[in-house]
Amino acid sequence: MTITRPKGTNDFLPADTAKWQYVEAILRDMARKYGFEEIRTPIFESTELFLRGVGETTDIVNKEMYTFLDKGGRSVTLRPEGTASTARAFIEHKMHGQPLPVKLCYMGPMFRYERPQKGRFRQFHQFGIEVFGSEDAAVDSEIIAFAMDFYRRLGLTGLKVRLNSVGCPKCRAEHKAKLQEMLRPRLGEMCSDCRERFEKNPLRIFDCKNEKCQSLIADAPSITDCLCEECQSHFEEVKSYLDEAGIPYELDPRLVRGLDYYTKTAFEIILSEIGAQSAICGGGRYDGLIADIGGGSMPGVGFALGMERVFAALDAAGIVLPTARGLDVYCAALGEKARKAAFSWVIGLRGEGISAEMDHMGKSFKAQMKAADRANAAFVVICGDDELAKNEIIIKNMTDSAQNTVERENVIKELIRRIQK
Ligand code: HAM
Repeated sequence: MTITRPKGTNDFLPADTAKWQYVEAILRDMARKYGFEEIRTPIFESTELFLRGVGETTDIVNKEMYTFLDKGGRSVTLRPEGTASTARAFIEHKMHGQPLPVKLCYMGPMFRYERPQKGRFRQFHQFGIEVFGSEDAAVDSEIIAFAMDFYRRLGLTGLKVRLNSVGCPKCRAEHKAKLQEMLRPRLGEMCSDCRERFEKNPLRIFDCKNEKCQSLIADAPSITDCLCEECQSHFEEVKSYLDEAGIPYELDPRLVRGLDYYTKTAFEIILSEIGAQSAICGGGRYDGLIADIGGGSMPGVGFALGMERVFAALDAAGIVLPTARGLDVYCAALGEKARKAAFSWVIGLRGEGISAEMDHMGKSFKAQMKAADRANAAFVVICGDDELAKNEIIIKNMTDSAQNTVERENVIKELIRRIQK
């Protein structure tokens, strides 16, 4: 039986990775311009981090974590997201001592044991940014602007920002009481998950995929009906900064997001063209997270965008990224001595930062010229044992087909001169 990749994972072949590198380069460039520095955290963490960070009532923690005991008997989990790890590192490395805000970004694989489908994988990749230390509503809007700027740079259109405020523990307590009062008589009709959510965190019921549960909460008060004065005015400010930046948004009072750490701002960016899994970015504020996982009081806000969904969006829009890879020099050689000479030119050219290839498949001269064409080579060095003996090596410019002869020892020098011209 052949071994195939695990369900819900992907192999990215060279044609794919060229696109990934192109998009990653844009993200790195943008991160620098927006003032974010990269952090790299482990792929696995102590399970405790996600229990306390992401929250025990979330689907991610309850159903989707890759958790196992290592050989030392410790419970570890493949990271399902990057915010908790970044917050853990912020505390562990005492970054609160740095000038605030601390602005970090990351890129890499995340793992969730979800039911795989179009746009939803068990290993997927996120680019995320996190800002620690500022309560300023301008930062919430600035990170949304970052995401929108990124999609704009790729040429994507039709994106929708869905915006909500999920308040603070004070607003949440009032909302919880109202919700529980209203839902108590309907509890028997709810799914077992929601019955549990009802006690621990009724806000999570809004996140339930069960249609029956959704219909039971259709007339329930939303969290925005219960915002305290401070959260309300913060929300107004976020909106006014978005207005200022000319970023349209839709208010969605039912948007609660699938992670427990959010306070105040919660948002998603949706692109319906890519199918049912249309959330291409999600984020929000988490002013209590650092304290929840053992740090001091420290506000935070950030987002993560799904890389696979970026490529799905590009495909849906028919956008082709300019990733064509050209070769500088192809050395077409025939004969034992000529091949040795070509080998030394290829190595020498690469040492000068010039991309160079030669044949390693015993191809005929004609087939080598074809290979040079296919590789989009700018120049071809043509050398048989005869040319070598006469010390007349041919350099062919593939753009205009012009040919010149050079002496063996000048091949590299001449190519450098032409390529750097
Ligand atoms: P999230 O909404 O769970 O948030 O994930 C963010 C994005 O990751 C989603 O919008 C989606 O594009 C992508 N994504 C999530 N799950 C999958 C999957 N199974 N397959 C493919 N793509 C997926 C977070 O992870 C938060 N840490 C975001 C954040 C950062 N909030 C504050 N800072």
